[in-house]
Amino acid sequence: MKILLVGAGGREHALAWKIVQSPHCQKLYCAPGNGGMARIAEVVPIEDTNISLLARFAEEKKIDLTVVGPEVPLALGIVDEFERRGLKIYGPNKKAAEIEKSKVFAKEFMERHRIPTGRFRVASRAEEALRILNSGEFEFPLVVKADGLAAGKGVVVCANVKRAEDAINEIMVKKKFGPSGERVVIEEFLKGRELSFIVLTDGTRVQPLVTTMDHKAAYDGDKGPNTGGMGAISPSPFISEKLYAQIMDTIIFPTVTRLLEEGRRFKGTLYAGLMLTSEGPKVLEYNCRFGDPETQVQMLRMESDLVEVLMSAVTEDLLKDEIKWSSKVSGCVVLASGGYPGSYEKGKLIRGLEEAEKVPGLVIFHAGTSLANGQYYTNGGRVLNVCASEETLQQTMKKIYDSIPLINFDGMFYRKDIGAIKEVR
Ligand code: AMP
Ligand code: GLY
Repeated sequence: MKILLVGAGGREHALAWKIVQSPHCQKLYCAPGNGGMARIAEVVPIEDTNISLLARFAEEKKIDLTVVGPEVPLALGIVDEFERRGLKIYGPNKKAAEIEKSKVFAKEFMERHRIPTGRFRVASRAEEALRILNSGEFEFPLVVKADGLAAGKGVVVCANVKRAEDAINEIMVKKKFGPSGERVVIEEFLKGRELSFIVLTDGTRVQPLVTTMDHKAAYDGDKGPNTGGMGAISPSPFISEKLYAQIMDTIIFPTVTRLLEEGRRFKGTLYAGLMLTSEGPKVLEYNCRFGDPETQVQMLRMESDLVEVLMSAVTEDLLKDEIKWSSKVSGCVVLASGGYPGSYEKGKLIRGLEEAEKVPGLVIFHAGTSLANGQYYTNGGRVLNVCASEETLQQTMKKIYDSIPLINFDGMFYRKDIGAIKEVR
């Protein structure tokens, strides 16, 4: 099969790494790809949002399966366009992707169907939002969320009124995230541990992926601003069989079924970001795609053939056999550019990669890197993902943390506590 993978991050490098291991894969193209993907696939300089050019490329090259990583092309309708042209593509269509694209839609959907989530209000004007803030309806801290996509940065946990007013001003008045800030969700703050619960679905059947725990805050001890994710481990240490069944019954199955009933059949990866509260698991957000860096730790543990699994979701015949996983514990630590998730510089030379790649069992996925004259340079906020998969969490994290000092670039920083199991804030 000829396969096209859309995207350029660490998540896509991990998917590419797994796809090329499949005997079904004769040729893999990545658009636009990154420095690391260029070593295992042919990178094609087409941006992931240029849907018509991607579709034309897939037609010309007679691509048998396209796999979409990021949410933006999904929200723009890449799946609808490919399907219109009779091309096979893995991911939800535009109507189903609304579950991630609009937080207002997602919250109202959950309310309609009694899917557990935090209490919330929606405001479409700044004055209305300020009125809700000052009404005393929500205690502090509370959470202000821009309605639309904001690369994981449109969510502000606000300790007091001042912070909440600033967030509303930035989102709705200054339009920091453009049209994504036309509406906001004001939500109660949920206390507990976070869990990323990710499944594949063909719209009716569901295949859960192994559980993961993501570390979203920028700095050690869950301090600092939220990022796309600074590291992850799999499995999550905090999930019992009972909790697993509860999540499937109260969140995952109702979501898939109700979307189908509402004419939004969801085919692809459904990611529920959950808070494990004292009242049970509640949904913080849905994503319509694989997680980043959750995918990195999941692909390290997947034993089944990813191409077969994805194809079966596309053809609405999701594998009846369960996906097979290794029982090892995998981990991923993100090496980021100084300043991330705020502004940062690009183009810094990355040293020591070759040496780090010699460490047995260490797997390095590239995120924001570019390749020029045989050298790698930083090209994004999250630059590299240093990963391993060993018998125990301690062995995995030791391998990763012992290897990181081999690598360096100007401004590099990373969290030193990925996988550390702490008390809830
Ligand atoms: P979201 O994009 O909605 O998942 O929000 C990003 C992050 O903000 C989550 O991973 C949580 O760490 C935090 N967050 C979002 N909503 C809430 C909430 N209602 N209570 C507590 N933390 C939240
Ligand atoms: N790691 C969080 C996400 O993929 O949304």
